[in-house]
Amino acid sequence: METKLQIDITKTSKSKLQETDFDNLVFGKTISDHMFVADFKKGEWTDFRIEPYAPLSLNPANATLHYGQSVFEGMKAYKNDEGDILLFRADANQKRLNESAVRMCIPEVPEELFMEGLMQLLDLDRDWIPNKPGYSLYIRPFIFATDDYLGIRPSENYKFMIFTCPVGHYYSKPVTVKVEQKYTRAAEGGTGAAKAAGNYAGSLYPALLAQKEGYDQLIWTDGKTHQNIEESGTMNLMFMINNTLITAPTNKGTILKGITRDSVLKLAKEMGYPVEERFLTVQELEKALIENSIQEAFGTGTAATIAHIAKIHLNGVDYELSSKSPDSFSIQVLETLDKIKYGKVEDNRGWII
Ligand code: COI
Repeated sequence: METKLQIDITKTSKSKLQETDFDNLVFGKTISDHMFVADFKKGEWTDFRIEPYAPLSLNPANATLHYGQSVFEGMKAYKNDEGDILLFRADANQKRLNESAVRMCIPEVPEELFMEGLMQLLDLDRDWIPNKPGYSLYIRPFIFATDDYLGIRPSENYKFMIFTCPVGHYYSKPVTVKVEQKYTRAAEGGTGAAKAAGNYAGSLYPALLAQKEGYDQLIWTDGKTHQNIEESGTMNLMFMINNTLITAPTNKGTILKGITRDSVLKLAKEMGYPVEERFLTVQELEKALIENSIQEAFGTGTAATIAHIAKIHLNGVDYELSSKSPDSFSIQVLETLDKIKYGKVEDNRGWII
């Protein structure tokens, strides 16, 4: 591989590969051998290195621990039958990481640094990329503040890191969700569009309450009126009603601009489905649930891929949704996405690098 940036590589002396059970992967528990690290000091990114995956040493006054100045990405690498590494829409993740960074006053990571660090890490840990259907290497790039300082201001020092995990399905079965109309995930003018650590922390408590009631996840509604359907905790949401695909718009800054969301919308248009990027109101959703006119409801996300929704709880009522049939849109679009990601069809959209 042609090297453009100087990246110092220290290989592990004890690979965990042989002791890893690739048939029983729990999402995010099994971490590959190496990690990429870069430091932001004196106004520039420096000290690019790949090291054995290991704990970090942090001062208790570390700014991220107190004020949460941290952003991350989720992306995936696949292997084709020839053993080549295929990355799905990595350019989109790189751009979104920087959009999140700007919102959180974190310095952007230059494209070359992101891509070169990632490529060299994947090259070194290529044996960690599973090559069976439904499996992939989940990639977690992230940037966090490293100043040891308790004053409130953007940190002056940061770390950009990437590590990877071989993964299977995030959800092993169709998910059950509850429409949340009390707690708020994001408000206009807030940080909802950023993949910022705090967004996830704030959603844990309401999600936990829903889990205690037996639901896997929440469907968030808007922070102002709680009358518009936004997204779920781990994914964007899509509804097929009257053969039209409906999903919340991302122009209010409250919803993550999902890359799987964007890919599914593009594929839906290619497949001839009308697509509406608009808020489905709670009232509309309730009416459609009562009339049983929702053909499909599913979540989209890098980790979740396409997650079928089996049950929606709204206003005290559990509504069961029809089970997925092989000719449903969500199954077809998942198959198409998988063919692209695993290199089974030619990529004429520029999605694979
Ligand atoms: C992803 O889909 O990559 C995410 O970051 C969601 C996370 C909750 C696993």
